[in-house]
Amino acid sequence: MGEVRYGVVGVGGMGQGHCKCISELADARLVAVCDIDAAVAQSVGGKYGVPYCTDYHDLIDRDDVDAVTIATPHYFHPEIAIYAMERGKPVLSEKPIAVTVSAADEMVAAAKRTGVPFGVMYQTRTEPAWRAAGDLVKSGKLGEIYRTLLIYADFRSQAYYDSAGWRATWIGEGGGVLMNQSPHALDRLTWLGGLPSKVTAYTATRNHKIEVEDVGMAMLEYPNGGIGFIHCSVNETPGTLLLEIAGEKGKLRVMTNPKGQQELTFWEIDPGVKAGSDAATEMWHKPPVTEIPVTLPDLPSGHAEVLRNFTQHILNGEPLLSPGVEGLNSVELIDAMILSGKTGKPVQVPVDRSKYDAFLDKLKKRSRPKKTGPDKRVTDTVNIKA
Ligand SMILES: NC(=O)c1ccc[n+]([C@@H]2O[C@H](COP(=O)([O-])OP(=O)(O)OC[C@H]3O[C@@H](n4cnc5c(N)ncnc54)[C@H](O)[C@@H]3O)[C@@H](O)[C@H]2O)c1
Repeated sequence: MGEVRYGVVGVGGMGQGHCKCISELADARLVAVCDIDAAVAQSVGGKYGVPYCTDYHDLIDRDDVDAVTIATPHYFHPEIAIYAMERGKPVLSEKPIAVTVSAADEMVAAAKRTGVPFGVMYQTRTEPAWRAAGDLVKSGKLGEIYRTLLIYADFRSQAYYDSAGWRATWIGEGGGVLMNQSPHALDRLTWLGGLPSKVTAYTATRNHKIEVEDVGMAMLEYPNGGIGFIHCSVNETPGTLLLEIAGEKGKLRVMTNPKGQQELTFWEIDPGVKAGSDAATEMWHKPPVTEIPVTLPDLPSGHAEVLRNFTQHILNGEPLLSPGVEGLNSVELIDAMILSGKTGKPVQVPVDRSKYDAFLDKLKKRSRPKKTGPDKRVTDTVNIKA
């Protein structure tokens, strides 16, 4: 195979970003698009001069489609992905890979069973500060992790939520800020800090007329006794993005500055936090801390980079920057926070699959798609850039 011929499913919003990136990528070609909205499918197909259809089975069954990207609302990701994997076609799914841990399990199992390449669009992992943070954690320079902190505070208007019937409903997307806006931040938290074993959360709907939460917080307990705290909200502007990971040997902080750039700070602790405490003979002795300058890699980032990497993974076995199987971790955390927030009780991770399915089924029964008039197909402009 000299190039990967892609079909894109769901081209109303984010899927158009996929089409643009694919059409600009070496070794990749856009060959077909699909959307249940025929007018959308026709318009995007026309723009790129490729055939369109309204049923994803028809797109995936095409002989000239080698691989599929999925940018439908989240509930559809698993069924479309599994259909493609079972036909041997690599899948790059938008985030979150699924709404429930049970559906995410099925995707992961299908990827393992079929051996088909599976990626998830967690494109922020490719940004320089996050690549550098990933390298620091992987190098073991933090030592044992004692604490994590994530603040992801952003803004969404009522008009945003009213822009499509599926948005911010239990039946349409199965969650609010935790399910839709926070997954990138929660993915980075679990990628760098691991999965907690216990989650005690608070969720609420404060500023919007929506069924689902627009704020969520949680206390985390990790298997090693480490602790963490999460705050996610769409009720603030200017936004805050802060991640801290504090370990025995080092501490890292990534924070967005007022210009919107991410700044990474890393401190080395010698001989370590506990080692320094155990060794101290002076009452007020603190282990010395040194700020270590970190050079951020000058590498491409964003959707285009994830699509380039996915293409090269298919063609040449390049390691995935954002493996689909790792998409399960953020779904664990999202589901745990939603369940704990709604029930007022701590939730163990891994989340009890059948309990979560029964809990969500009840919420979906009372849920109604919003009556909003024609959907407005404008996805986050910040994310559509290559
Ligand atoms: N990675 C990112 O930064 C990012 C940014 C925005 C959205 N997303 C994700 O992309 C997905 C889509 O979000 P959006 O904002 O583009 O939504 P959207 O409503 O603008 O577009 C979704 C499109 O999917 C179509 N669709 C629905 N069901 C379908 C089906 N079964 N088969 C084919 N087409 C179907 C709809 O008609 C619509 O055109 C979501 O999962 C969202 O979380 C990711």
